Order: sequence, then C-alpha cells, then structure tokens
Amino acid sequence: MRSLKRRNRERTLRFTVKATSNARSDSDAKSSDSQTEGVLREWRESAFYWQKHLGTIRTMFQPVTEALIKEADLMEGETVLDVAGGSGEPSLTIAETVGPTGSVTHTDAVAEMVTAAESEAQRRGLTNVTFRQCAADALPFENNSFDAVVCRLGIMFFPDPLAGLREMLRVTKREGVLSLAVWGKSDLNPFSYLITNVVAGYFEAAAPADPNAPGAFRFAEPGSLARILTDAGAVDVKEREFKFDITAPISPEEFWELRSETSGTLREKLATLGRLQANSLAQEAQEVVREYFSNNQMSIPAQMIIVTGRKP
Ligand SMILES: C[S@@+](CC[C@H](N)C(=O)[O-])C[C@H]1O[C@@H](n2cnc3c(N)ncnc32)[C@H](O)[C@@H]1O
Repeated sequence: MRSLKRRNRERTLRFTVKATSNARSDSDAKSSDSQTEGVLREWRESAFYWQKHLGTIRTMFQPVTEALIKEADLMEGETVLDVAGGSGEPSLTIAETVGPTGSVTHTDAVAEMVTAAESEAQRRGLTNVTFRQCAADALPFENNSFDAVVCRLGIMFFPDPLAGLREMLRVTKREGVLSLAVWGKSDLNPFSYLITNVVAGYFEAAAPADPNAPGAFRFAEPGSLARILTDAGAVDVKEREFKFDITAPISPEEFWELRSETSGTLREKLATLGRLQANSLAQEAQEVVREYFSNNQMSIPAQMIIVTGRKP
C-alpha cells in the first residue's frame, strides 16, 4: 500500500546528504545533559497550562494537523506513532482518521503531558490510542513497527534532533513515512513576534541565543530540517512552506492568558516583574494583537514548514 502511495506522491525539494559529526567531548555531553534537563523541566512546568488550554490549542493548530495527515497520506487502518505529542495533538485527531482498525501511539518525554493526553482521549471516548512516556531518542518500540511517524512542533526541542530522527526512522516500517511540522521564521509569525517585541521592551537586551539550541525557531531556516532528515537516512525528503491562519474563538485577553501561561520562557520572565509592570506589559500585549481579533474571534496569519521523508 505504501509503495503505491509513494508513486502517487508529489515530490518537490530534494536535499543532498552532508555528513554530521556525532563526536562529543565530556564537557559537551555535560552541558548538553543540563540543557536537556532544563528543557524538560520547562515542559513539565508547562504541562498544567497545556492541559488547561488544550481545546484552544487543538483548534489553533488543527490546520497543521490536517497538513501532516495529508503529507503522510494517513489512511484508515494504519498504525501511527506521534512523537512529542504534548497534551494530545495530533494523536487524537489522527486516531479518528485511522479509525477503529488503525491505532495511534502517543508519546512525550514529560509524564504530565502524557497524562493530559490520556485524560482527553478518555473524555472523547477514543479507544484506539495508547500512551507511553519516552524521549524521542529512546523510543521503546521494535524496529519497523509503524506505518507512519509524525511530530508536530516537537523536534526543535530535542537535545539531539539527528538522534531523534534516526530513532523515529528505526521504528518506521520500510517505505513508511515520517512527517514533521516546525515553525517558520519568527518575523513571519506575528503570533510570536508581536509578544516577543512587547516583552523585549521590559528587559535588558539579552545576548543573542544560539540558533542551534533547543527553541521554537531552531528549524525555521528553509532546508535545515530537511537536510538533517536526509542525514538521518530518509529518502524522498521534501519540504513545504505551510501558510495558514491561527484561528480560535477567543478574545485578546484570553489570547494573552494562553500565550503567557503556555510558554515557559514567558512565564519565567513575567515572574521577575513587579505587579504594575506585569499589568502594563499584559495591557500592551493585548493592544498590539487586537487588530487580529474581531467579535471574540482570533485570526493570525502564520507560516510553518512541513518536512516529509520516507524510510528506504
Ligand atoms: C510545543 S509542544 C508540542 C506538543 C504537541 N505536539 C502539539 O503540537 O500540541 C513540544 C512537546 O515536546 C515535548 N518534548 C520536548 N523534548 C522532548 C524529547 N526529547 N522527547 C520527546 N518529547 C519531547 C515536550 O514535553 C512538549 O510536550
């Protein structure tokens, strides 16, 4: 079935393989371990808010889920692995796509995220999803287990994305598909930069962040994720710029609540401000986004990148 689907699949961009060194010194390994612990701690502390806002998050990024389903060409009866599935998406939507004869395995490195996803699956009466807490670079599954593997807005936070992709390919069946969604550049995404710019006005300018460190825009440069997926051993790698509107039935005030609670970086910064300053920042943030709201309906243009490849 997969090879037939493959022949029908349009192919766009191809990327040449560049060797990537895996050698790490002891001190590299230590600083990378503490960075990983920091990233996971931030996600553990965010899980409560991702559960609180999961309905809105699901609505906001539904077009991305649909794009992943289309790019991976998911069909009824297939077995799908979702890596870094957070509070349940795209796992739970895909569970409906593959139906009762198919199955989805939701995974995330953070136990609290897995619990949130599992409660939501129960609430929605979904019985074809299983849940495992695990890191992307140590997936507890046999080789060649899944027809397809997806990851929505997760890979940019992995300590070693190449190791994560190799692991995802290992558990994919031959000719199976891997489909990944990441943010496009920050300056193309008002969802991000409008708030970042307001916040920047309240703090001393920070040293520029390492573009290769875990973070939302780590793979925003076109071609960067496709190249690493090729390095990991995928074939027929293609990349698609994905433009859509982030919509949800919320007010600017509710948007600010969601944005300021679900981002660990933002929560940490806001916690250092006094009450007056925090209130003034919140007011300013709500004012700059107001043009994207009408009658309590948000619509913010967004740009992401969808990268898809196949296990040879
Ligand atoms: C931005 S959230 C995306 C969640 C979900 N896929 C979505 O689109 O709503 C990123 C997720 O990556 C998870 N994560 C971070 N590092 C991870 C790793 N090394 N392995 C697996 N999951 C990881 C976090 O716990 C968090 O749930």
